[in-house]
Amino acid sequence: MTTGTGFGLRRIGGRIGAEILGVDLGTDLAPALVTEINSALLEHKALVFRDQHLDDAGQLRFAALFGELTTAHPTVSSVKGQPRVLPVDGDEGIRANQWHTDVTFVRTPPKASTLRAIVVPPYGGNTLIANAGAAYRDLPEPLRELADKLWAVHTNDYDYAAPRSEKAAEYRRRFVSRKYRSAHPVVRVHPETGERGLFIGGFAQSLVGLGPSDSRDLLRLFQSYVTRPENIVRVAWNPGDVVLFDNRITQHYAPDDYGDLPRLLHRVTVAGDVPVGVDGTLSHVVEGDDASHYTPAAA
Ligand SMILES: [Fe+2]
Repeated sequence: MTTGTGFGLRRIGGRIGAEILGVDLGTDLAPALVTEINSALLEHKALVFRDQHLDDAGQLRFAALFGELTTAHPTVSSVKGQPRVLPVDGDEGIRANQWHTDVTFVRTPPKASTLRAIVVPPYGGNTLIANAGAAYRDLPEPLRELADKLWAVHTNDYDYAAPRSEKAAEYRRRFVSRKYRSAHPVVRVHPETGERGLFIGGFAQSLVGLGPSDSRDLLRLFQSYVTRPENIVRVAWNPGDVVLFDNRITQHYAPDDYGDLPRLLHRVTVAGDVPVGVDGTLSHVVEGDDASHYTPAAA
């Protein structure tokens, strides 16, 4: 399929994901083209650009086409000399083999994430991305009505599995060195499309007004709709590939299936706005600062 401004688009999943063909992200992209890419992002939620071979500067330039950038992470160190680039390094001992939306423990999680593959294992090390809007629509009506009313508290500091190595333990200590807790609606209204999506994932640890047991059970139930195979696209990386996903209505997961093989991606994220629930209520901070060192203050 070819779009109005001339790039090709090939869907790679039934409900999420498209490859964008014929665009060189290393060149200056015309504003009309950026608008088209953003429209494709809103529709397909995860876009794959093969064989781009950007450097950090190129990835930063590309991400910045979609809005102001965040710094690398609220607590984790950036790539040396690149305060807005986060290394996603399997060798750090921490692997994102848990479904999550990026940085939802702050009040203003990123709008979009870009990932760029630098070193990938010969097999495994894929990234799975799920459509949280389709998950919401899959809910039976009574569950949708329940979800519409619920709020979840997201935190970076919870009972993680025991780290497997000293490196992993050190990473974990850094990850939780500042504690954040933010309350977000379980159903977020997408600020650009109005589409409703389940906004939960790994950092959502409890539901407001419910005890731990009910919280776990309900979060697990809603989460099971996000992670249905129908709602997922699986991206197999080659070095040089770039993925752009809409962090407001997706979750992702990096299977830990590559043993001790090296895997290195760089992540650059675009700042988001404050999530809004179906009744118009905005997310709020429960504990911790406003993370203004990480993300620009939302209007
Ligand atoms: Fe992530």
